[in-house]
Amino acid sequence: MLTDTFGRVHSDLRISLTDHCNIRCFYCMPEAGAEYAPLRSQLTFEQILRFIAAAVPLGIDKIRLTGGEPLLRPKLPQLVEKLAGQQGIRDLALTTNAVLLANHAKPLFDAGLRRLNIHLDTLDRERFAQITRRDELPRVLAGIDAALDVGYPVIKLNAVAIKGLTEPDVISLVRYGRERNIEVRFIEFMPLDGRSLWSLDRVLTADDMIAMLAEEFGPLTAVPDADPRAPATEYQFADGSRVGFIASVSRPFCLNCNRLRLTSDGKLRYCLFAREETDICHLLDDEPGLQEAIRSTVRQKWAGHEINRPTFLPPERAMYSIGG
Ligand code: 5AD
Ligand code: SF4
Repeated sequence: MLTDTFGRVHSDLRISLTDHCNIRCFYCMPEAGAEYAPLRSQLTFEQILRFIAAAVPLGIDKIRLTGGEPLLRPKLPQLVEKLAGQQGIRDLALTTNAVLLANHAKPLFDAGLRRLNIHLDTLDRERFAQITRRDELPRVLAGIDAALDVGYPVIKLNAVAIKGLTEPDVISLVRYGRERNIEVRFIEFMPLDGRSLWSLDRVLTADDMIAMLAEEFGPLTAVPDADPRAPATEYQFADGSRVGFIASVSRPFCLNCNRLRLTSDGKLRYCLFAREETDICHLLDDEPGLQEAIRSTVRQKWAGHEINRPTFLPPERAMYSIGG
């Protein structure tokens, strides 16, 4: 088992398939001049599968594919098919901005994917263009419709919540989700933009949003945590529909963290905010060496990020390059 020095057992691996993206959310990517890893350093599907084959016996049983935008990766269904059939993996999910989902929803479902996390901050076309610097809301909505048509059993919407910007979206996203049986989860804005745009007073907190939602839809009750290691805290409306909050800033959940991240260029990280990472590229032909590198990365893991402390240093890599 991948147990760190704080007793946390690691079973969740997030794999970034590319650091490229087809939109430009300001809290994740610069408008221009993104620093991409050289394409030749991008892990191939075969290398990713080798990494997973080494990680599963150590206790990894949950895999999320992310990016950048993973749908930009050619032949993605081929990878999904292998992962969906891989022994020992009990949960496979994909995080996408849904711009390309209309064409990909069916092939991915047919390859065995059942869980989708769709990133969408607003249903307002202008604000979408302001946040992402691209006018892609219509394609995103078409992508979500396509996924609903195909029949994915679990679709979640992830929205980054930013004070002074996305307040109007809280109610409208939840309404949109409740009408479609899609759970919306709000993620507090984190210092991952790589350019210090973040500040504490730009964080729209879970408490702020819970108050807004209660006023509109009536009281919310906290849902007891089925899995304390899951980052979202969930609340329920009177009709049983749910909303989640990934309150990394106002309610840090580091003490329950069970996640490891592999970047698209083969760097293993024990935290989004880690200031060090392990290059595993040269170990892909050496399973025992690779397993030792995974174990030692877990052993290095710190207690947690310290976003709220004055000594906090944001990671040098921005979110698009680390992978959600
Ligand atoms: N703060 C919070 N969440 C972020 N994401 C990207 N950048 C940030 C940030 N600065 C989220 C997006 C995406 C997921 C991979 O990470 O919502 O869904
Ligand atoms: Fe692309 Fe996701 Fe970053 Fe937005 S948050 S720019 S969709 S990788």
